[in-house]
Amino acid sequence: MIVFSGQAMLLATVILPALAQQTSFNSGPEEWTTFSRPINRVAVIGAGPAGLQAAAHLLDANLTVRLFEKAPSPGGNWFYTEEIPVREEYPGTKYTAPEPQPAEYPATRYYAEGEGGISLDERWREHWQPRPVWHNLRTNTPAALTRLPGVHHSPDSPWWVSTHDLERHVRAFASLHGLNTNDKPLSPPHIPITSYLTRVEAIEKSNDAWTLTLRQLQWLPESHRLRADWWTETFDAVVVASGLYSKAKIPTIRGIGNWSTATENRQYPMIHAQSFRHPERYSGKTVLIVGASVSATHISRTIAPFAHRVLASTRANKYRDGYGLNILFSFAEKTEIVPEIASFEPLANNDEGIRAGRITLVNGTVIHGIDEIILATGYLTNTFLPDLVNPRKLDNLHWTGHYIHDPTLAYMLTLNKQYVAWLNSESLELGGQFVEPVPLETREIWSYFLNAHYKKDYLPHENWTRFDNLPFSEWPKPRSPDGEYKVVSW
Ligand SMILES: Cc1cc2nc3c(=O)[nH]c(=O)nc-3n(C[C@H](O)[C@H](O)[C@H](O)COP(=O)(O)OP(=O)(O)OC[C@H]3O[C@@H](n4cnc5c(N)ncnc54)[C@H](O)[C@@H]3O)c2cc1C
Ligand SMILES: NC(=O)c1ccc[n+]([C@@H]2O[C@H](COP(=O)([O-])OP(=O)(O)OC[C@H]3O[C@@H](n4cnc5c(N)ncnc54)[C@H](OP(=O)(O)O)[C@@H]3O)[C@@H](O)[C@H]2O)c1
Ligand SMILES: *[C@@H]1O[C@H](CO)[C@@H](O)[C@H](O)[C@H]1NC(C)=O
Ligand SMILES: *[C@@H]1O[C@H](CO)[C@@H](O)[C@H](O)[C@H]1NC(C)=O
Ligand SMILES: *[C@@H]1O[C@H](CO)[C@@H](O)[C@H](O)[C@H]1NC(C)=O
Ligand SMILES: *[C@@H]1O[C@H](CO)[C@@H](O)[C@H](O)[C@H]1NC(C)=O
Repeated sequence: MIVFSGQAMLLATVILPALAQQTSFNSGPEEWTTFSRPINRVAVIGAGPAGLQAAAHLLDANLTVRLFEKAPSPGGNWFYTEEIPVREEYPGTKYTAPEPQPAEYPATRYYAEGEGGISLDERWREHWQPRPVWHNLRTNTPAALTRLPGVHHSPDSPWWVSTHDLERHVRAFASLHGLNTNDKPLSPPHIPITSYLTRVEAIEKSNDAWTLTLRQLQWLPESHRLRADWWTETFDAVVVASGLYSKAKIPTIRGIGNWSTATENRQYPMIHAQSFRHPERYSGKTVLIVGASVSATHISRTIAPFAHRVLASTRANKYRDGYGLNILFSFAEKTEIVPEIASFEPLANNDEGIRAGRITLVNGTVIHGIDEIILATGYLTNTFLPDLVNPRKLDNLHWTGHYIHDPTLAYMLTLNKQYVAWLNSESLELGGQFVEPVPLETREIWSYFLNAHYKKDYLPHENWTRFDNLPFSEWPKPRSPDGEYKVVSW
């Protein structure tokens, strides 16, 4: 669960001013990083909640900002469309190799319908990748904490915010800061702040500056073609806010590739949760959901009123057995929980659906008569800039999101409460500096929300650490290595 106010905002308010004021960056009590040149031009990658906040703060600090977003509109994860992502890759299935980059920039290419065996619609979706949200998705985080500074949910907003309301909320924030789709200056030659439908293809540091390679896609309705433009722009600093949920994780179960190519009425019975949009498709059907986390349980509740039967294949894991949390209670009541899948037996035909197919479970039982399968098996690590840093493991990253070896690169990450709480607890025990704690009030909203909306006494007050329950001002002072008591406030 990612809460805007606890994480993205923390980053935006705490770190970015440091970047913006071109001050030295404090990475420890005595160590300072001095930028080798002034920071004037900053690129922000992604117009989701995190990137929009970063851009807004940098603009407030009078920096020259360029915000690049591959989607047609702001909103990030919350930009809902009926379009679905290009079909995910299944083991053993063929996929389209990425198109070679032009030899030099700038470059322009035109695509006609069906060129290279690819439809224009598919090229369009491949470029910006429709988001993994469904029509009646609601947040699993309370409205009071799932909001951006300066914009508000309506006073009668429920605790769970609909994906559509959250999309409007994020777009309102973009508009407030002049970052929305049509906020370009009316008269040229100004360079606009934001470029939508513009994908950052590569980022490279040379001669002390960052060069971004960009690709923009446009529909040319008169000639029914697509036009792609590539060019480069250079910057003093880059903020990556590209999100986490962009590549579906497909389990490597024996036979899954064979089943993934099966169709019925030109639809794939097997999909990943990222392509789930409406429950009506499942009316009267027997549906198997794979997974036991937030997507699996929410989708089961969404389709239960429509489906004939709902099965969920789950495996013993941390969600079921750890953290004192058993998530199985949040599946729809009619869900039949079955063990993990051992294999999908090869189908005889690939145009008659999967109903006749047989699925062997790890306990040896064979099930059949399944009409549809929804893989709610999560997402792979975001592979953006894989050589430099792994954003999920936080390797090489300072807790503020800066790349330690070169803090002119910063990540807007899901620095969650646990991470900050852990750093603070270690500091208290071992002597070190504090990072800003999550406000007490935020913790109280969380407890209230979880206890009221998930499970009674799910997260009682005693379960916070002893530090969590004290206001920051009352925390004991940590002892630094030289014997002095010190609290570093960021
Ligand atoms: C199904 C689902 C439900 C969720 N529910 C909740 C919830 O209830 N509460 C909650 O707090 N969080 C929830 N989340 C997490 C969600 O990711 C965050 O709420 C939030 O959207 C994170 O913001 P972000 O700006 O970091 O990333 P995103 O919102 O993902 O935005 C990243 C943006 O970067 C753009 N981008 C990526 N790569 C490039 C590139 N190379 N070039 C140009 N642009 C690029 C993307 O197009 C995207 O618009 C959910 C996630 C999913 C998948
Ligand atoms: N607002 C909402 O209500 C909402 C809805 C959906 C998602 N989200 C958010 O979106 C993010 C992703 O959630 P997610 O549920 O899509 O992904 P996830 O949390 O990564 O869960 C993936 C699930 O699939 C299981 N799995 C993977 N391979 C499997 C296999 N071969 N057999 C059986 N189970 C398998 C995993 O089990 P293991 O743990 O054993 O690997 C896990 O239960 C989270 O941040 C979540 O909060 C929010
Ligand atoms: C930005 O510029 C405006 C107008 O010149 C000025 O009032 C403001 O103080 C500047 N802000 C910062 C953070 O330098
Ligand atoms: C295996 O799982 C199925 C589905 O839950 C169940 O009906 C069956 O009894 C289980 N078999 C064994 C041997 O436990
Ligand atoms: C699945 O495998 C069977 C047996 O090898 C093969 O005949 C069939 O064409 C395959 N079906 C699909 C959908 O790939
Ligand atoms: C909360 O604390 C109680 C008592 O220490 C413990 O039994 C329970 O498992 C904890 N719950 C969570 C969610 O950590």
